[in-house]
Amino acid sequence: MADRTRPVAAGVCITTPCAGVTGQYVAACTPRAPPTAAHRLRGSAVNSTPPAARRPGTGPFGRLAEQDAVRRRAGLRRELRPREADSALLDLAGNDYLGLTRHPDVTRAGAEACLRWGAGSTGSRLVTGTTALHAELEAELADFTGAEAALVFASGYAANLAAVTALSGAGSLLVSDAANHASLIDGCRLSRAAVEVVPHADPDAVRKVLAGHDGPALVVSDSVFSVDGDAAPLPRLAAACREYGAGLLVDDAHGLGVLGDGGRGAPHAAGLAGAPDVVCTATLSKSLGAQGGVVLGPAAVIEHLVNAARTFIFDTGLAPAAAGAALAALRVLRREPERAERARAVARDFHQRLSAAGLDTTRPDACVVSVRAPSPEDAVAWAARCREEGLAVGCFRPPSVPDGVSRLRLTARGDLTAAEVGRAVEVIVRTAPRR
Ligand SMILES: Cc1ncc(COP(=O)(O)O)c(C=O)c1O
Repeated sequence: MADRTRPVAAGVCITTPCAGVTGQYVAACTPRAPPTAAHRLRGSAVNSTPPAARRPGTGPFGRLAEQDAVRRRAGLRRELRPREADSALLDLAGNDYLGLTRHPDVTRAGAEACLRWGAGSTGSRLVTGTTALHAELEAELADFTGAEAALVFASGYAANLAAVTALSGAGSLLVSDAANHASLIDGCRLSRAAVEVVPHADPDAVRKVLAGHDGPALVVSDSVFSVDGDAAPLPRLAAACREYGAGLLVDDAHGLGVLGDGGRGAPHAAGLAGAPDVVCTATLSKSLGAQGGVVLGPAAVIEHLVNAARTFIFDTGLAPAAAGAALAALRVLRREPERAERARAVARDFHQRLSAAGLDTTRPDACVVSVRAPSPEDAVAWAARCREEGLAVGCFRPPSVPDGVSRLRLTARGDLTAAEVGRAVEVIVRTAPRR
């Protein structure tokens, strides 16, 4: 297995983001730490503005064609393709882990919420108010995960920006895992805090950084990492934080609904639910099959976010249809907790069968299973061959991967039948690049 633990910029204190670098895993760089080759591939060469931004005669956007050419040469150009309402493809690309996005209770609740409350929230909840639906969703999410309180946002991305920025700021320190999701990285960039990027899943590195800092600190980590599907060592991270009086912020996007008792999430499984020094974020768009995000934590933290989080204050509240659908999905999960275990079992099955067939497959701690490809071009061609055979798989390439290695990303769904799992494995193995 390739090295996942190498940080992008381990131990580098970051105070100014690297201008124009937009790759998910290009956390930042400083004048003291010139970009590495990996930085350049994942970030500036592919996505950003070359230093001579204004070239006479090319117009203000002339440089985009140069960037496009770089992407094409590197096999990293992305394209949108149409999606049909009733696709015959077997979907292993989305994040609908529990198969709830088309569950009749969920779609009906979304439609009814839209009819009752309107198509949109019409403004920031601080301006237009909180509906009973939003309040109910927040109370049930908090109760389910064992948190004291909850606040929902228009997306998980917005929830992460809110939590990271409102719980840090100038004079404080953010300690961020090198494989964190882009939304946590962007929160760090916006925070005005000092940021230390530490090697992946390394509580000792976290401890070392905290030991050298005097002042408020927040350690930020995904619970399940979105590319390889491995879990963060939450109990050991929490212990490191407690040793130095730091807060812990866990993004449970890929844990909620899948890990813990009946899908109560990774912090719950780690015994951290309701802890006064732990804040959790999650998305409503994966296991809960809807759309939106949530911050879960102590009531004082949630009250602070209402007053300080810009993505709450200046963003239109979560759409009623999404709130209604997420609430219905949560109720299905509470009624049928076995959905969580079934999804994990499917993930283990994929891993076992693909590894046995000789593919370089990550061991899943939740529902994400990653299969490595020799190159970005191979990954794209492999995904296209799967598609031709009726299978939709994710294709992750730089800059969306922490180590520059392209892969197919499969999401195990609890509603897949044994025959569907078998067909998926057969297609992936048969269409694999031969090298
Ligand atoms: C780990 C992680 N955090 C946050 C998000 C953002 O959530 P949303 O899609 O609801 O904005 C994602 C989505 O892909 C994710 O994988």
